[in-house]
Amino acid sequence: MYPDRVVSGMRPTGSMHLGHYHGALKNWIAMQAEQPCLFFVADWHALTTHYDDPGIIEKATWDMLVDWLAAGVDPTQATLFIQSRVPEHAELHLLLSMATPLGWLERVPTYRDQIDNLAGKELSTYGFLGYPLLQAADVLIYRASTVPVGEDQVPHIEMMRELARRFKRLYGKEPGFEKKAQDAVKKLGSKRARLYNELRTGYQQDGDDAALAQARAMLDDAGSLSMIDRERLFGYLEGSRKLILVEPRAQLTAAARLPGLDGRKMSKSYGNAIALRDDKEQVTHKIRTMPTDPARVRRTDAGEPAKCPVWQFHQVYSDASTQEWVQKGCRSAGIGCIECKQPVIDAIVAEQEPMHERAQPYLDDPSLVRAIVADGNDTARKLAQETMRDVREAMGLSYT
Ligand code: TRP
Ligand code: SF4
Repeated sequence: MYPDRVVSGMRPTGSMHLGHYHGALKNWIAMQAEQPCLFFVADWHALTTHYDDPGIIEKATWDMLVDWLAAGVDPTQATLFIQSRVPEHAELHLLLSMATPLGWLERVPTYRDQIDNLAGKELSTYGFLGYPLLQAADVLIYRASTVPVGEDQVPHIEMMRELARRFKRLYGKEPGFEKKAQDAVKKLGSKRARLYNELRTGYQQDGDDAALAQARAMLDDAGSLSMIDRERLFGYLEGSRKLILVEPRAQLTAAARLPGLDGRKMSKSYGNAIALRDDKEQVTHKIRTMPTDPARVRRTDAGEPAKCPVWQFHQVYSDASTQEWVQKGCRSAGIGCIECKQPVIDAIVAEQEPMHERAQPYLDDPSLVRAIVADGNDTARKLAQETMRDVREAMGLSYT
């Protein structure tokens, strides 16, 4: 009933690194050619933890957008926008909040985890508790079918599915819908009413699509109907309540294949990251100083790739023959670590070259990024407004 649509967001954390690229961005780039995609900067989500330091968000937002474009997110295929520029997200968040049991939010595992991780920060705030609810609004407002996310986000997707179902139960059907629909049938006049009922039976019992099409065409012509009656009759035809919010499904991004320079998860805050747009000198320096198998103290000591983070980089960046060269050379002390690292340096530099090229025009003229996002904001906003019209109506808020 609603088209496939992909929605995903990232908090603006500033410059992206290769972990983001091999984790999330490559996946986005693969999807954008296949389906309509909306990718957005979750700047309000950043405020849930950085409410006391909002100054960093603006720069982080633009830096992240340039990195998305550099990585190959294509604004002619995907819609790129900023969450706070589509204030309808906040309206849906508010309306959802009315019917969201507190327990659903307190139960989300990331809630406790984050509070523990960011110990020392006051996070018993209303906004932080509502983090997954805001995320639900981000997705439900576009009636998204698919949400590419990491494993940690799966409970958030589960919660949005529950919310969509709850919403349907609570507001998906007007009280007395059946009776109102039958009254609307009568308003068609006896001849048309009989035809409507025949076609409806034909469609619902025999799956006759032609009957459905004919009935719809008839409703379109029935000038005497109010808009709301017409909507009712459309819904009644198909035997469905009007679907307002759609249950999305998570599409898991493969677990991070690329660790940080020290073998832990790549993260700017650990100081073990290679930025998407680091230059050749930075990459060379970072890889050359990267730790290796601690057992290889001297060049003549044999090593074990399984104990070396450089090997994990080879697994991402090197072909089979290079990998074999590493395995043999390391275990026999036939190659030195500097030698071993060179193909990784070359591969990363080659991977980044087109990224630097794509980023350059945006760095030369930042108004290009502003224009792309302004367009994306408009596109997203139109879609969001359509959904909100239905939501307001379903919740009895469309009176004037
Ligand atoms: N919570 C997500 C994260 O931390 C970011 C996010 C916000 C998001 N809204 C979203 C992801 C909607 C997918 C869909 O990574
Ligand atoms: Fe690591 Fe390569 Fe040195 Fe072996 S030779 S320890 S795999 S860097």
